Amino acid sequence: MKLVKLIANLGYGSRKDVAQMFRAGRITDADGEVLYADDVVAHETIRVDDEPLDPPTGLVLMMNKPLGVTCSRKDPGRVVYDLLPPRYTVRSPVLSSVGRLDRDTTGLLLFTDDGALLHRIIAPKAQVAKVYEATLAQDLRGGEGALFASGTMLLESEKEPLAPATLAVLGPRHARLTVTEGRYHQVRRMFAAAGNHVETLQRVSVGQLTLGALPQGEWRVLDADDVASIFAA
Ligand code: URA
Repeated sequence: MKLVKLIANLGYGSRKDVAQMFRAGRITDADGEVLYADDVVAHETIRVDDEPLDPPTGLVLMMNKPLGVTCSRKDPGRVVYDLLPPRYTVRSPVLSSVGRLDRDTTGLLLFTDDGALLHRIIAPKAQVAKVYEATLAQDLRGGEGALFASGTMLLESEKEPLAPATLAVLGPRHARLTVTEGRYHQVRRMFAAAGNHVETLQRVSVGQLTLGALPQGEWRVLDADDVASIFAA
């Protein structure tokens, strides 16, 4: 791909803006040599105003989503995209969250501009485990694990039973739930159907990829090993 198109697609400006950046000598290689629009150079050697060019298409990020932000670009108020560099929100192909977390749910949220990868992660057939930790308003009663694992549990107004999910009891009002689907408000609705109420909810892992030490509100670019860990058994 021509450099002007490549850099414009990464959100640095229109093609006209980027052509002007070339003319102004703002686009260089790693040694500070000015690049020209027709040059053929490796992505990682390109600098814009002395800063490395943003990552190429195929970008995958993880965020530790904080409370109080939503995942839809259209929502009023703060959205997860406000926590990313503004350029990332105007890239082409577009960067999207991989599924969504509720406003009041924290934890591991993935983003990618790779539509096929996004589909592979969220497709129920892929059986990628999403692990949530919940604190509950009332003590667990003891039957929830069997109900969630049954494969016959129906959520209100749904016709398709939930795939079996695994409950680990961490305390009287504290549980870890592993699901392989991503239905609307799924975890909250599962506990509600069991007569409880989720007070706090955090997603701690997707596949074998965990939040690690990533602080809330922060994000990082994933490498190939991180992405492979999403699909690791
Ligand atoms: N289940 C929920 O209830 N909320 C989320 O954000 C994710 C799963």
